[in-house]
Amino acid sequence: MKGYVFHGPGQAAWEEVPDPGVREPTDAVVRVDTVTICGTDLHILGGDVPEVRPGTVLGHEAVGEVVEAGPEARTVRPGERVLVSCVTACGRCRYCREGVYGQCLGGGGWILGHLIDGTQAQYVRVPFADLSLHPLPAAVTDTEAVLLADIFPTAYEVGVLNGRVRPGDTVVVVGAGPVGLAVVATARLFAPERVIVADLSPARLEAARKLGAEAVADAREDPGQLVADLTGGLGADVAVEAVGVPETFEMCTRMVRPGGHVANVGVHGRPATLHLEELWIKDVTITTGLVDTSSTPTLLRMTAAGRLPAAQFVTHTFPLDRMEEAYDVFAHAAETGALKVVLGGPPPREVVPVPTAAAD
Ligand SMILES: NC(=O)c1ccc[n+]([C@@H]2O[C@H](COP(=O)([O-])OP(=O)(O)OC[C@H]3O[C@@H](n4cnc5c(N)ncnc54)[C@H](O)[C@@H]3O)[C@@H](O)[C@H]2O)c1
Ligand SMILES: [Zn+2]
Ligand SMILES: [Zn+2]
Repeated sequence: MKGYVFHGPGQAAWEEVPDPGVREPTDAVVRVDTVTICGTDLHILGGDVPEVRPGTVLGHEAVGEVVEAGPEARTVRPGERVLVSCVTACGRCRYCREGVYGQCLGGGGWILGHLIDGTQAQYVRVPFADLSLHPLPAAVTDTEAVLLADIFPTAYEVGVLNGRVRPGDTVVVVGAGPVGLAVVATARLFAPERVIVADLSPARLEAARKLGAEAVADAREDPGQLVADLTGGLGADVAVEAVGVPETFEMCTRMVRPGGHVANVGVHGRPATLHLEELWIKDVTITTGLVDTSSTPTLLRMTAAGRLPAAQFVTHTFPLDRMEEAYDVFAHAAETGALKVVLGGPPPREVVPVPTAAAD
């Protein structure tokens, strides 16, 4: 088969690799029909994730059909259309038993396209298939589903749920990439009074407005002032950091009101300053987190019910074998306007539809 193979910083190619097969009795092999590229894949190519070994197939998000299942995979069977989650879960360790799959101690966690071969290929081996694959309702398209492999659960769990967004809140989101925009979409499920978005890119701010942000700000022009003006000087109830640089984290800690929450989502490569000399008196809660994907079943049901605008995030589509071109478009988002790039598409195939209430 073919896959997109990492060959060290700055080097990767769509090339012939061995077909994956079932190795452990709990594995399944999935034929990849739809796949996407994550900002984290760009971090890997940039050399920021040194544990990814040269020779690894990249990618941790996909939709496809199970073609082979080990004897101990009980809930997924060949022929089934599934979502491949970015996080796999052993289901047995202390963290998995608490639903904190991202911290799995039993060989799961974020391993696809990181520690083992990933989804940017024609086929992928998925360990712990029962807990790492989600059978798809017929009412959810491949394109919608692939966004629920990583960016939507990340935004919802690490941004909105950790940030404790409540009805009537003022929520400020710093960073309007796919993750920040998915924070806007999922924060709105809680009926906040307003969502304010700060970014450097006018196109991204426009996308935020389309998703329902009430106010947007150029991050260079003191969004803290806008937040203060809109909240009677108090600050935001919830500030979500969705960039991953020290300035935006520190900006969030300045924009939050006393008693509010700062939810950090961004992956940071450099230390940020925690201004305890100002924060100690403000009753502020700061959270960090890696996505668990424990919310994926809920998000799938909400997508089937038409409550999540996942498809709106896709700006470009390519056939699977044009992976290199798709990376190029995604990596140059400022020029191409790319938000989410999706490869593959629904090929003709026999699918056993899973009955769902919303599938009429
Ligand atoms: N915690 C997790 O489990 C998890 C999972 C997935 C992704 N992430 C991280 O979430 C972050 C966002 O992901 P993404 O895919 O949306 O990234 P992205 O790079 O596509 O988007 C980042 C956005 O931030 C904006 N930006 C850059 N510098 C800024 C600044 N100084 N002020 C305001 N805006 C600025 C950019 O214009 C861009 O729109 C990344 O750091 C990513 O690695 C975390
Ligand atoms: Zn990702
Ligand atoms: Zn586990």
